[in-house]
Order: sequence, then structure tokens, then C-alpha cells
Amino acid sequence: MTLYETIFTRRSVRQYDNTPLDAAELAELQRVLGGARQLPGQSAAFEIVGADKLKGVAAPHAILAYSQDTDAALANVGYTLQGVDLWLQGSGYGSLWMGMGKPREPKPDYKILLAFGKTSAASRAGGGEFKRKPVSEISNEDNAVARAARLAPSAVNFQPWRLSFAPGSVVVQYSGKGIGKLFAGKLQKTDIGIILKHLELALEHEGKKITAIAPRGGGKTFEIEVKFEQ
Ligand SMILES: Cc1cc2nc3c(=O)[nH]c(=O)nc-3n(C[C@H](O)[C@H](O)[C@H](O)COP(=O)(O)O)c2cc1C
Repeated sequence: MTLYETIFTRRSVRQYDNTPLDAAELAELQRVLGGARQLPGQSAAFEIVGADKLKGVAAPHAILAYSQDTDAALANVGYTLQGVDLWLQGSGYGSLWMGMGKPREPKPDYKILLAFGKTSAASRAGGGEFKRKPVSEISNEDNAVARAARLAPSAVNFQPWRLSFAPGSVVVQYSGKGIGKLFAGKLQKTDIGIILKHLELALEHEGKKITAIAPRGGGKTFEIEVKFEQ
């Protein structure tokens, strides 16, 4: 299953089998993680740990993410690990973004974790099973790219984003406000990176060649422009 196809079947998995991944399976994930593309100028660090290093996490493993505190760095964590989330789920594992779970002894720069493990939880059968805002509420155009981006996961499912399509570009703008901003806070900048990964995969699926990804602004005005050739 491709990463693009997995966009339509993934789900947050909160129940895991007790059997951990074996050494070869973990080594394969480490290869995927090591090869995961990061945003230009960003260099987040990632660490795979077992349940003994985690607090409040039901899964047997997690990937811990470390980065700077800027909006672009937080978005980069979302962008990079969402590719891994899709890889895990497309490979038959379960995974869960977790702002609430924590490492037992967090190191400096720790930001968030992606829990994962074997599971018997069923994948979704298709886009119809997702609970999301309608495309018309999050995008100036209803097209296949917006429909795939719309399915991106976000903290507390607040979906703090808006998409603006123009010829050769799409901008994802941060639109968090009110209760969502209060509860999800900085996690919402990671959310922007998560939807960016879906956008990238959907544009590539449509045969577009991405020529630039540029985060800009900060705080309330944070946004990321993706330029592509038709
Ligand atoms: C940045 C981020 C943090 C999240 N933190 C948690 C968490 O701490 N606990 C939890 O159960 N789910 C967490 N979630 C999962 C979301 O609640 C979930 O993605 C959303 O409700 C959409 O559901 P879906 O992923 O099944 O499509 C988080 C998701 C994201 C993207």
C-alpha cells in the first residue's frame, strides 16, 4: 500500500497487542525514519524507545521527537513523522500521535511522540469513515488534493488549517483559535506539518512536481507555501 493510499485508511490506534516488534522489524522502521525527508533548514532528531521508557502510553513502542521551539521546527516534526505514521499504518502496524503521553525522563527539546505497535484494530475502509470538517470549510477549492489533505489527523481533531490554492501553489494557513488554541496550543503548529505531508503526497499523486516548501510568518500568521509545476 502506498503512503498516498494509506491516507484514506489510517486511524488513531489506541489498543495494541502485547508482542513487541522484533529486531528486524524495528531495524526496518529505523531505516524509514532515518530516510524521512525534513523541511529545508530543519533537523529534528528522533529516537525509538520501548514501553519501559514511556508514561501513559498503551503501545509497546514510541518514536520520540526532539526539535527547536519555532513554528517551522514544530511543523517539521509533524511533516516528517506523518510520513512515518502513514508508513507504519500502510505496513499493518497501529500508531497514535500523542501530546499527552510522555517519556519517563524527557530530555531537553523533547516535543511529542508517535506511539506504535502491532494491533488487531481494523484500518478504515475509506474516506467516508473519517470525522472531519467539510472541504468547503477548509479550502478555497474542492479538488482531490484538498480531499486527501482534509483527512490529516490533528490534536483533539481541531483541524486548525485553511488551504488556499492558486495556479502552481497551495498555501496552508494556521487558523487555530478559541478553545482549540487553548487546549492544543503548540501542538497545532505540528498539525500544520501533518497536513503538509498529506498535501505533498496528494500533489505528487496528481503528477505535480514540488519545487519549494516555504514556512513563513509565526504565531497567528504562520503558514507554509508549497510551489509546484503543473
Ligand atoms: C499532534 C497530535 C497530538 C495528539 N495527541 C493525542 C493524545 O495525547 N491522545 C490521544 O488519544 N490522541 C491524540 N491525538 C489523536 C487525535 O485525537 C486524532 O488524530 C484525531 O481525533 C483524528 O482521529 P484519527 O487520527 O483517527 O483520524 C493526537 C493527534 C495529533 C495530530
